Amino acid sequence: MDKKSILIVEDEFIIANSIKMALLTMGYAVTAIVSSGQQAIQQAKTGSADLVLMDILLKGQMDGIETAMAIRQCCNIPVIFLTSHVNDALLERAKLTEPFGYLLKPFQEKDLQTNIEMAILRHDMDNKLKELNRTLELRVKEEVQKSRQKDYLLIQQSKMASMGQMIGAIAHQWRQPLNAVALYVQDAKAAFESGELDAAYMYEMVENTLDQVRFMSNTINDFTDFFRPSKKKSPFNINTAIKEVIHLVYDLFKKAGINISLSCAYPEAVSQPPDKQSQKICICEPELRVEGFKNEFKQVILNILCNAADAIARNNAAAAAADEGDISVLLSKHGNSVIIEIRDNGGGIPEAFLDKLFEPYFTTKGAEGTGIGLHMSKIIIEDNMGGTIQAANGERGAVFTIELN
Ligand SMILES: Nc1ncnc2c1ncn2[C@@H]1O[C@H](COP(=O)(O)OP(=O)(O)OP(=O)(O)O)[C@@H](O)[C@H]1O
Ligand SMILES: [Mg+2]
Repeated sequence: MDKKSILIVEDEFIIANSIKMALLTMGYAVTAIVSSGQQAIQQAKTGSADLVLMDILLKGQMDGIETAMAIRQCCNIPVIFLTSHVNDALLERAKLTEPFGYLLKPFQEKDLQTNIEMAILRHDMDNKLKELNRTLELRVKEEVQKSRQKDYLLIQQSKMASMGQMIGAIAHQWRQPLNAVALYVQDAKAAFESGELDAAYMYEMVENTLDQVRFMSNTINDFTDFFRPSKKKSPFNINTAIKEVIHLVYDLFKKAGINISLSCAYPEAVSQPPDKQSQKICICEPELRVEGFKNEFKQVILNILCNAADAIARNNAAAAAADEGDISVLLSKHGNSVIIEIRDNGGGIPEAFLDKLFEPYFTTKGAEGTGIGLHMSKIIIEDNMGGTIQAANGERGAVFTIELN
């Protein structure tokens, strides 16, 4: 172990020297002997003392206690007080400097040595403890930082997941109207080439195309809203919502030989003669109202109608060719619930698939289907609107039943 160096602060020359001799005999080094507080602070700052022996009563402006206080603040060197007076007030003041020892003059050399050894040991341990605390604090900070990072990543991931879901949903809902727009444009070209492109044709085509584009734009808004968690349910008219979707696909389905009808079977329903705007489908009043998300509900209806049209085109091409493809939507009530039944004549769903339809990515359309449509529909109806959606087979094809409160 290397020699410890000690600074002696003592204004009585003889005492100072005898302490020095004693220290040297005990195997310590003495960095300096100083007689005033100022000098002591100076030495503590610039010298290499491991410990200070401090007389309490010093000549000059600062006494030993003040000096010890200053050393404690600047230099992290342990101090042992030496004094010939025991005085309660003095002792109390001395305590405030947290001294490492307190020796009454005259003292035995043995006591001096024990005090010095204990002080150095305690000071070492204090330093180690401080270091430990510091690194502990640092590690706690690091760990907190790490766990924050993890939380952030998790939030980011779940955001990405719902973004992915959203993009998937939008892509899915865009496919149909995108096809429709392409068809309208091709149709216009053919009409132009055959000289059928008159003003009426043009206006209708533009209107139909804009309808599809509006729908596509709404889809983005709907889903952006939908994935914001704070979205509120609000009441809406079921009949109108369904009619809006039927309008969107009516012409397109008609061209593919498929007719869509809407009828109402609740006691107070009165069918109105079709007006100019809604000439294609019947109107019933009063309308049925439910609480929920209107736009998402429309997405569900669109999914079911498109699936039905697909089924007719794939499995009952003869009917489509004869313009006898048929999709019928029936609105009714059961107690407090609204029931929407959508039937088609597309041949139905193979029994084995009935309980798989709503699973994510279940599709029988190979690369042409994603299998998201019905899964998304189930989430919207059951998780978000508290209703139920079911699939079954009817006489001529599939029957999808939605029940909402
Ligand atoms: N009306 C229906 N008649 C017969 N089968 C249907 C009908 N509706 C859905 N299905 C079956 O349910 C499967 C899943 O439908 P879903 O809408 O989830 O996905 P998809 O239509 O295959 O793909 P996507 O919707 O991405 O185009 C379809 O592949 C089809 O086999
Ligand atoms: Mg589908």
